[in-house]
Amino acid sequence: MIQRNFLLKLKYFFKYLYEDRNSISSSTRMNQYHLIQSSVGKKVIMAITGIFLMSFLSLHLSVNLFLFYGEEAFNEAVSFMRRNAIIRILEYVLALGFIVHILFGIRLHIKNRKLKGEEDYAVQKSISSFGSRTMIYTGFLILCFLVLHLMNFMIPMKYSNHNSDYNVVVTLFKNPIYTFVYVFSFFILGIHLSHGFQSSFQSLGLSTNKKRLYWIQKLGCFYFWLICSGFSIIAIWFFFIQW
Ligand code: HEM
Repeated sequence: MIQRNFLLKLKYFFKYLYEDRNSISSSTRMNQYHLIQSSVGKKVIMAITGIFLMSFLSLHLSVNLFLFYGEEAFNEAVSFMRRNAIIRILEYVLALGFIVHILFGIRLHIKNRKLKGEEDYAVQKSISSFGSRTMIYTGFLILCFLVLHLMNFMIPMKYSNHNSDYNVVVTLFKNPIYTFVYVFSFFILGIHLSHGFQSSFQSLGLSTNKKRLYWIQKLGCFYFWLICSGFSIIAIWFFFIQW
């Protein structure tokens, strides 16, 4: 039943996005508009973009693991990704995914604060996890990290003359402050993912029974440890091998 409702909502959402607006009757348009405006609609959008961003993180970590195979292997992997037409198109989808996820996250947070009120929010505190209560703050810190990260790697690698992508990464982790900031950010990312993973599946109506919820929680736990420790090991490893 929940899955059917979800599919219906998804259908209306995509209809709203892609159909010629003039061809839809005004009442249908109002219903669709209310769906997008509703918290459920926002949560579904957050979940879809969240799952997309989590898939990106898995791919990104896999490419970064080539750093352990040496300079040639990593440079080859990065240049393969850069030449690949599908990846180049996906870069725009990724940017859009980030923007939509951030904007809808902020709106959902403001709406929830208004709906719950300060008193109810305090009661809610005792039953919700630390990860869920801090989503907006961890999200903001991840955004700060992302700006720094793009300035450190993407901009110099794409728009400046450099002899090796590998050297750009290795040189950054020579600096203890950068290594610390990166590892701290991965820890914050872990907290964000610890709630985000299971919440995405719940919002999509995919954890309706106890058994499924149990497995989604287990998978979420495995995923956030994998991402958080995988990225951290890279930064720490390259920091220490240079001493
Ligand atoms: C040790 C950890 C990490 C390393 C060594 C690393 C390395 C890199 C490198 C080398 C690039 C440039 C790729 C290119 O220009 O083709 C890049 C881009 C990027 N990274 Fe990371 N990254 C790390 C962690 C992260 C994390 C945790 C996130 C997300 C929260 C992230 C998000 C991005 C994004 C959005 C881009 C731009 C996308 C693109 O150009 O394809 N990175 N990273």
